[in-house]
Amino acid sequence: MKIPKPLVEIVATGRYLPERVLTNRDLEKMVDTTDQWIVERTGIRERRLAEPEMLAAEMGARAACQAMERAGLHPGEVDLLVGATATPDRWLPSTACDMQAILGTKNAAAFDIQAACTAFIYAVTVAEGFLAAGRAEIALVVCTEKMSSITDWEDRSTCVLFGDGAGAAVLRRSANSRGILSSYLRSDGRLGDLLYRPAGGVKIPLDHKVLDEKGHLMKMEGREVFKAAVRSMAEACDVALQRAGLRAEDIDLLIPHQANMRIIEATAKYAGLPMAKVYVNVDRYGNMSSATLPVALDEALEQGRIRPGSHVLMVAFGAGFTWGSLVLRC
Ligand code: UT7
Repeated sequence: MKIPKPLVEIVATGRYLPERVLTNRDLEKMVDTTDQWIVERTGIRERRLAEPEMLAAEMGARAACQAMERAGLHPGEVDLLVGATATPDRWLPSTACDMQAILGTKNAAAFDIQAACTAFIYAVTVAEGFLAAGRAEIALVVCTEKMSSITDWEDRSTCVLFGDGAGAAVLRRSANSRGILSSYLRSDGRLGDLLYRPAGGVKIPLDHKVLDEKGHLMKMEGREVFKAAVRSMAEACDVALQRAGLRAEDIDLLIPHQANMRIIEATAKYAGLPMAKVYVNVDRYGNMSSATLPVALDEALEQGRIRPGSHVLMVAFGAGFTWGSLVLRC
C-alpha cells in the first residue's frame, strides 16, 4: 500500500507535571496494599499529585504555554483550541474556554473533547480535520487531568493507578513530508459502566447521599477493562499501520497509553515491537488519562528517542470504551 502524504504535522509539544510525588510506600499507609503488589501488577512506582488549589485548566495552560513557546507562537495566532479532560474544573463552560482565558488565545474557537484516556488521539484527529479542510491555520491540543479529584482514596483497586498532569501539542498544515500518516478512532458505548463516575451529572445529581456513598468518584471493573484494553489496542495498532502503509519494522517508537505495564507489554508483543522501541513512563506517573500520550510524546522528543524522519505509533484505550491510534512521521 502507498504511504499517504501527511496533511498536518505536530510542530511542538509541552507538558506540565505537579511537583508533589506520591510513592507506593505512601499508599501503603493509606490503603491495604504493598509496593510489591503495585509494581508487579501495574509497573507503577510513583505518580504526581496536584495541590488542592491547582486547577485542571491551569495545568493545561502551563503545558500549552511551553508548546506555544517552542513553536514560536504568539497566543493570538492560535485559531483553534481543542481541550480534552475527564476532570473539568466545572461543568460549564468548557475547560478549553477556561484555558483560552488564561492563555490569551483570543482568536481561537475553543471546545472540549471527552474521550477519556483516548482523548489525545481524538483531539489530534479533530484538529487535523479542521486544519486539512482549511477551517483553521494553527491548532492547539491540550489534555489536562486532575485524576486525584475523582479518585476514591479508600479504594485500593483504583487509587494506586492514577496521577495528575497535562500535555499539549501545536499543529499546523504540513509543508513537508512530516506529519500524521494515519489515524483510527473507535468506541463502544455499551461498555460505559465498566469505567465511569455514576453520579454528579443530570442522571444522578449531587446530593448528600451521593457524596456519602462516593457516587461522584471513579469506579472500575479492572479485569474487564484490562482484557478490552489489550484486545482493542492490538486492533488499533494493526489498523493505523495498515492505513499508513507501514509494517511494524518501520516503526521507530511505540507510545502506548500508560495504564499498566502488563498492557503495554502485551501491546508491544502483539505489534511485534521489542520493548527497546516502546516508550514507558507509567512507573513515574501512573495513568494520567488523556494527558498520558502528549506527556510521553513530549518526553520522548526531549530525550532524543524521536528523531527527524522517525515513525511513531501512538495507541490508547479508555472509558467509553474508546480506543484509537495514529502514526506520525516526525
Ligand atoms: O486507561 C484505561 C483504564 N484503566 C486500565 O486500563 C486498567 C486496567 N486494569 C488493570 O490494570 C488491572 O486489572 C488492575 C491493576 C486494576 C488489577 O490487576 P489484576 O491483576 O486484574 O487484579 P484483580 O483485579 O484481578 O485483583 C486480584 C487481587 C484481588 O484480591 P482477591 O479477590 O484475589 O483476593 C484484589 O482485591 O488483588 C487485589 N487487589 C489488590 N491487592 C493489593 C486489588 N487492588 C489491590 C491493591 N493492592 N492495590
